[in-house]
Amino acid sequence: MARKLLVLNWKMNPETLREAQALFLGARRALRGTSSVGLVVCPPTVFLSSLGKGRDGDVVLGAQDVFWEIEGAHTGSISPYMLRDVGVRSVIVGHSERRALGESDATVSRKVRATLAAKLIPIVCVGEHVRDEKGDYLGFLAHQITESLKGVGRTNAKNIIIAYEPLWAIGKTYQAAVDPHSLHEITLFIRKILAKSFGRSAAMQVKILYGGSVEPENAEPLLHGTGVAGFLVGHASLDMQKLKAIIRSIA
Ligand code: PGA
Repeated sequence: MARKLLVLNWKMNPETLREAQALFLGARRALRGTSSVGLVVCPPTVFLSSLGKGRDGDVVLGAQDVFWEIEGAHTGSISPYMLRDVGVRSVIVGHSERRALGESDATVSRKVRATLAAKLIPIVCVGEHVRDEKGDYLGFLAHQITESLKGVGRTNAKNIIIAYEPLWAIGKTYQAAVDPHSLHEITLFIRKILAKSFGRSAAMQVKILYGGSVEPENAEPLLHGTGVAGFLVGHASLDMQKLKAIIRSIA
């Protein structure tokens, strides 16, 4: 069976490098003895270089964002090659909290292409703000996926991870998360949209993750029969007891 994937999005936490090192070590320890789960840890950018030195084969280092240019006059930006150089292998692109600051689908697609060009794996976040009875949110999602992946070639599709993160489910508790039945419907829908851009066989190879209030209580039911390869975990990834319980429940 394929390894389950947990992407840990620490967001703007913790405050100090010392705490970040402890969290990183905690995540590695939580994984110990489990071969059926893979971890991608995404700390704030400032900690990447230091944590990159302590990484091993079990834990992949990820970034929370990236810029699309390789180098040059772009104050405050970080290129995918810089991330690669300090040990990063995956990058979250288009998280809703970045999109809320003005990031458009066009920007996301530039970042996705730059990430792929640097041989890093983009974890592309998509998701509707609300669900309406008429199902207009599906149209929103289809458009967001297609535009965010614009310009990505068919051969590169298998190197992309899609994280379905409905905004209404983020940062709450497990009761507020999507239910397994609608998650399954969404993963089928996402593959249908991907197939339009990349063809059916490439679409089948894309890993889809779910994110939004994944906790020990809902991880297992959300994994089985829903078509997801794993989860993008926010707040629960900062709590070692919760992280351990999530890993145990899906291992
Ligand atoms: P959450 O965050 O698990 O705290 O809901 C998920 C995310 O925003 O990536």
